[in-house]
Amino acid sequence: MNKNNDELFKNVISHAKEYGFVFPSSEIYDGLSAVYDYGEFGAELKNNIKTYWWKSMVQMHENIVGIDSAIFMHPKIWKASGHVDGFNDPMIDNKDSKKRYRADNLLEDRIAKYEKDGKTAKAEKLQGDMEKALKEDNLNALRDLIVEHEIACPISGTRNWTDVRQFNLMFSTQFGATSDGAEEVYLRPETAQGIFVNFLNVQKTARMKIPFGIAQIGKAFRNEVIARQFIMRMREFEQMEMQFFIRPGTEMEWYAKWKEERLKWHLAVGTNPSKYRYHDHTKLAHYANAAVDIEFEFPFGFKEVEGIHSRTDFDLSQHQEYSGKKMQYFDPEINQNYVPYVIETSIGLDRMFLLTLINAYEEQDLSDAEKTDSRVVLRLHPCLAPVKAAVLPLTKKDGLPEKAREIMDKLKLDHNLIYEEKDSIGKRYRRQDAIGTPFCITVDHQSLEDNTVTIRHRDSMEQERVAADQLEKIIGDLVSWKNLLQKI
Ligand code: GAP
Repeated sequence: MNKNNDELFKNVISHAKEYGFVFPSSEIYDGLSAVYDYGEFGAELKNNIKTYWWKSMVQMHENIVGIDSAIFMHPKIWKASGHVDGFNDPMIDNKDSKKRYRADNLLEDRIAKYEKDGKTAKAEKLQGDMEKALKEDNLNALRDLIVEHEIACPISGTRNWTDVRQFNLMFSTQFGATSDGAEEVYLRPETAQGIFVNFLNVQKTARMKIPFGIAQIGKAFRNEVIARQFIMRMREFEQMEMQFFIRPGTEMEWYAKWKEERLKWHLAVGTNPSKYRYHDHTKLAHYANAAVDIEFEFPFGFKEVEGIHSRTDFDLSQHQEYSGKKMQYFDPEINQNYVPYVIETSIGLDRMFLLTLINAYEEQDLSDAEKTDSRVVLRLHPCLAPVKAAVLPLTKKDGLPEKAREIMDKLKLDHNLIYEEKDSIGKRYRRQDAIGTPFCITVDHQSLEDNTVTIRHRDSMEQERVAADQLEKIIGDLVSWKNLLQKI
């Protein structure tokens, strides 16, 4: 990360804390690594991102329905899905510091250092060697690379390494009252399996015909050994996943369609397209016959936000085998029974939240506008903004608060608003800019005479005088989901 990007990222993290978006979890006990809490504005922003995704998937597609399955699932499910045996990261311990690292992260850091030092050929060679070792699951080769490139533990400074071992990322706990009779269950590492095991229930109750999709938003848990980059890699996070069930043989057509449709969803909120790119997987997971990541350019480089995977009939077939229950669909159009193929779209809600925050964050030098010389503004799409409008009486007296309250009481039936009368109007505008409120409604003395108010627009800082009676319609139109959903 270069200095500017590093600084920008640090500023976004402090802004997120200072303005009630994201707090470190259990902070008064010094925090819990890779776990975060969302504050008052963070929770609103997160809910708005969820709503955007849910509306675009479920409301906008007649053939997609949404469910909410439990976090605890039968342990056999994770055997069938391959997570018990294969959901691993290659880990290595330093014998002196007793610290554990992901072997590939140590190598990635070394590659980044070579690149920073201008040793491009060395960086490329190591990248290639690492990818080969990972592809072949060759743990000895990963260790050899760590030794060959003289990578030392950042804590002890020594190169006294253990062998590289696989470490399963699932959290487990005991289900049942007594420890002897208890059964080991897992906290789900993805929401997708809750969809697969409900495939037949939903197909029957919602009377769905293939092709159709099932969407879900929910928590997932992974014992990530290395906590990195704020809310990018967490131990408790949320996913928004959709499994689209299709006739075998049509998967490449649907894969292409969802790849395009998902990028459109990202771009519709106004993000610069150059910030996004596709990254095709070269090493495919055992269940996939095609996979692509949608990557965003974070301050620390292009990173995955969403994955689109053609998962074949792997999951349903595995559940059919492990449960002994048929997971087939009778297709009346071709008069055949088959296990459907699946295209999955899977996006991390917390990563999307971070992307949204970083993309919206702007430090502006204003010189003369509004008599302050700088401001931090979150240029969030109005549909995503935590607060839609702030209602601000110019002063605390002369009946202005009463008039402002009257307006607030009417508008709050439709929107999340803030009422504020403390501090100068300039300071109050700045505070709303910092949390991304798209509109400020100011009530002044003229409002008492002719029932008009000013609307101040966050991005342009322009103000217009409008009739207070028109506010419901004006604000309603400006923050309407319709405008956004029409673009996708
Ligand atoms: N069902 C497929 C699946 O879970 P994945 O690529 O492992 O695929 C999907 O995860 C998305 O979930 C990622 O693109 C990322 O946005 C998010 N994600 C994965 N691990 C995460 C973590 N530890 N913290 C935050 N988000 C994570």
